[in-house]
Amino acid sequence: MSYHGSDFYDNDKNFEKYMERRQWQENANDTLEKPVILQLLGDIEGLHVLDLGCGDAGFGVELLQEGCASYTGIEGSRNMAEAASSSLADYKNGTVQHMRMEDYAYPSDTYDVVISRLALHYLQDIGSIFRSVQQTLKPGGRFVFSVEHPVITSTLQPSGTRTNWVVDNYFIQGYREQQWLGGTVHKYHRTVEDYFRAMQEAAFIVEHLRESHPVRAYFVNEETYERRRRIPLFLFLAGRKSE
Ligand SMILES: C[S@@+](CC[C@H](N)C(=O)[O-])C[C@H]1O[C@@H](n2cnc3c(N)ncnc32)[C@H](O)[C@@H]1O
Repeated sequence: MSYHGSDFYDNDKNFEKYMERRQWQENANDTLEKPVILQLLGDIEGLHVLDLGCGDAGFGVELLQEGCASYTGIEGSRNMAEAASSSLADYKNGTVQHMRMEDYAYPSDTYDVVISRLALHYLQDIGSIFRSVQQTLKPGGRFVFSVEHPVITSTLQPSGTRTNWVVDNYFIQGYREQQWLGGTVHKYHRTVEDYFRAMQEAAFIVEHLRESHPVRAYFVNEETYERRRRIPLFLFLAGRKSE
């Protein structure tokens, strides 16, 4: 089977495999991606947060526990949106909307922070989403996101432990397919420059560009740490709407 973004997670087998993988102690999301996102977000106390492609909203629960004023998750997969809804059940200021982020209304001047973790590489057109994010942020609000690193999306290879990585077709932007967790998933490749320029074209003041540089303290096994020093898995950008 072959899947677009959220549809991939609506196949129950893919969903289970993905959730299982996230339980692994040294999963790349927790060891490499989350530490950088937390640094880029900084203190979120009292802030209104929008999360595009929020998955099971486990991160939303953490942000609410840290004192954010509200958390709104947008999630295109029914399986994920249901998981998010049960994660947020105990929080009256935490909600999830089951829809594609392309279809959300993006109310003007509403959020202090918009985040998107590892979802934007499923989108063909990020320009219109970035403009919508700009519109929904309050003046001075911030947009922080992570994507699969362009050296990965340029030449997608089947998931699994590898001993090397080929980077090819880097400057050929657009559609890619990957064999991942037993299915074929569709993604869109953009270069580092493309992401940076899309931020600027949507009028963001780009404040940070980061990569998933591994930090030894987050790894239990030396071997996994050494392996993660070889290939960058994730790219991060953070920008601000002018005051
Ligand atoms: C790799 S998961 C990451 C989930 C979560 N952000 C996290 O970091 O744990 C990507 C998520 O993006 C969602 N997604 C992909 N394309 C989307 C779209 N167009 N609109 C809304 N959600 C989307 C998927 O359904 C999936 O839940």
